[in-house]
Amino acid sequence: MTELWHSFADMAAVEAGGELVIDRGEGFYVFDREGRRYVDATASLWYCMVGHGRNEIADAVATQMRVLEAYSTFQDLTNPPAAELAARVSAMAPVTGSKVFLTSGGSDSIDTAAKLSRRYHHLRGEPDRRILVTRERAYHGMHLGGTSLAGIDMNLTGYGPFVEDVIRVPWDSAEALAEAIDRTGPERVSAFFCEPVVGAGGVFAAPEGYLGAARDICRERGVLFVADEVITGFGRVGSWFASTRWNLEPDLITCAKGITSGYLPVGAVIAAPWVAEPFWAPGVGMWRHGYTYSGHASAAAAALANLDILEREGLVARGLELEGELAATLAPLAEHPLVSEVRAGTGVMAAVQIDPEAIAQDPDLPMRAVAACRASGVMTRTLATGAIHVSPPLVIDGVGLKELAGGIGAALDLLAQEA
Ligand SMILES: Cc1ncc(COP(=O)(O)O)c(C=O)c1O
Repeated sequence: MTELWHSFADMAAVEAGGELVIDRGEGFYVFDREGRRYVDATASLWYCMVGHGRNEIADAVATQMRVLEAYSTFQDLTNPPAAELAARVSAMAPVTGSKVFLTSGGSDSIDTAAKLSRRYHHLRGEPDRRILVTRERAYHGMHLGGTSLAGIDMNLTGYGPFVEDVIRVPWDSAEALAEAIDRTGPERVSAFFCEPVVGAGGVFAAPEGYLGAARDICRERGVLFVADEVITGFGRVGSWFASTRWNLEPDLITCAKGITSGYLPVGAVIAAPWVAEPFWAPGVGMWRHGYTYSGHASAAAAALANLDILEREGLVARGLELEGELAATLAPLAEHPLVSEVRAGTGVMAAVQIDPEAIAQDPDLPMRAVAACRASGVMTRTLATGAIHVSPPLVIDGVGLKELAGGIGAALDLLAQEA
């Protein structure tokens, strides 16, 4: 019996099968309560860039908590770590002069960006620009706004209508995006939400040229381009932002996860100066939006210490090296009879796709694969397509990569023998 209502869980199955208690982390490993060691193949939920067990971050947070644990940043209030974090993120943002709105996580950032885009148009005299455009396969968090933007049907069913001013386009066609906006009428469209690399939807890198073309289409039509970098921000694709790597100059960036490596919950929306401008103009008045923990001092201190480590240890550049190393290490798994393909090679993120035909015959196969991976010392989970999720901490080394791929391979062999 547990009182903890787990996220994304079938609680009857959890009660029947029991919980797995993770109680320690060190580098790219985590340990369960029985002391079993696992390679953290997913960096928890994509976020643990600098690895587990960093005393430096714990110390920075403890020091901050002794001085000022947290205080409101509503209206004219600020605090040193929040101000420093905003300045630092602005300086590393792809667009010079960006403003940084701090939140408590990715879903907050998405809902903030959605509201911000509508309010932006409203302030500029185009209140009819309300429609939000999303892509198939998209995951933009679980708040009411973000769920409305889901491109994964499973995440939308069973609730009735969400935000209805949403249209969904194919994930891989810039022409289809242009057509959809033009058909709707650009004067009604507020923003386009785009994961530079689709994450929870199954790890799909955008086709060559797609991101730049989508960005141009939005610019030409006055639609705000929102790069959802909750996963790709802070090193996961070998640059501080995917938007920097692919030269996107987004109007808005949503981020979270890697900004603290998960040591404390922080998210942010980074607004290009031209988007912030109408909000900051004299006479416009208050934007009635913000969260209790926006600019939380101790969480911001964790972010600053995390950014120090990323910079000092060159982990963003290491991410670019790892991109190829990870793809090469996983590549042989594509030959496995239970695997239809391995999607890898863009960033430190990959998906080992269990053959959809095998899943059609045995829908539990992906979950059994995850269980078998655990038994082989690899902690992972499934993505929306039934693929095995791979996005290790950026501190993983060659030995860890071999252990990771070897463990997945051994797990799949075991499953193939059982079949
Ligand atoms: C691309 C993307 N956007 C938004 C979110 C939501 O972030 P959070 O779970 O921190 O609310 C996630 C979470 O995985 C994500 O992957």
